[in-house]
Amino acid sequence: MQPLLNVVNLFKSFKQVSGLFTSRDRIAFGPVNFTLEKAQTLAVVGESGSGKSALVRTIAGLLKANSGDIYIKGKNISSLSSQERCLSVRMIFQDPSSSLNPKMTVGKILNAPLELNTDLNAEQRHQQILDTLKLVGLLPDYLAFFPNMLSSVQKHQVAIARAMILNPDIIIADEILAMLDISLRFKIINLLLKIQKEKEISYIFVAHNMHLVRHMSDHIIVLHHGKIIEKGTTEKICHSPQHEQTKYLLVSHQPDYRK
Ligand SMILES: Nc1ncnc2c1ncn2[C@@H]1O[C@H](COP(=O)(O)OP(=O)(O)OP(=O)(O)O)[C@@H](O)[C@H]1O
Ligand SMILES: [Mg+2]
Repeated sequence: MQPLLNVVNLFKSFKQVSGLFTSRDRIAFGPVNFTLEKAQTLAVVGESGSGKSALVRTIAGLLKANSGDIYIKGKNISSLSSQERCLSVRMIFQDPSSSLNPKMTVGKILNAPLELNTDLNAEQRHQQILDTLKLVGLLPDYLAFFPNMLSSVQKHQVAIARAMILNPDIIIADEILAMLDISLRFKIINLLLKIQKEKEISYIFVAHNMHLVRHMSDHIIVLHHGKIIEKGTTEKICHSPQHEQTKYLLVSHQPDYRK
């Protein structure tokens, strides 16, 4: 059976100015190979600068790979329109306070992707918005609220609702919990897990905190200088890490590293 997501020899480098008239390539990641199945969570971990964000941003279509391929349900995503891509993969950004437009109500924020990417009429869009608000645990009253009227957890709920509104196959979350304290992080993680159960969605979850990763993911890939140095089930990586870097990540992030 083909995997939901298949990443094949994906490679990305950035041009870096090294002198007045010269530049050289700096490898961000790759070549990397991995898969993700339906209703599963893949955690991407690694030290700062190891290429996690560059990798997931490339999968989300925000960066262009130098080489390699990304397949979703067997289709090369380079053959998909940007609309089709939005319906497959959505990203939740790190800081909802800055990624939610302060001038738009929650209703408008959730309506925008539906208007851009679907043929639904106003009534159908409204229903989809209500269903998605319910899914993330917010009452319809919040439709009229502006982001600055929301608590940090509610902003996360809206950011998750915006990612979920098109019912994508995969949601990518890059360090979305770094700004929350630990009890609120678990609240959001449990919400993501509940949504996963209900919608059979898959997640790619970038995190520094191995304690959360252990709670949340089915598989882990460990990046080090842009290469995958270890991959496997969460159980295997956490109980018998093979690489020194993985062992270091596991001990240095217990039980809570980033506040
Ligand atoms: N837009 C860019 N232009 C040039 N180089 C970049 C750019 N974005 C990332 N890089 C480089 O690519 C490498 C990987 O960066 P990336 O942001 O993916 O790391 P990361 O693992 O997400 O780190 P962190 O944990 O700090 O978020 C780094 O060497 C970084 O300097
Ligand atoms: Mg990053």
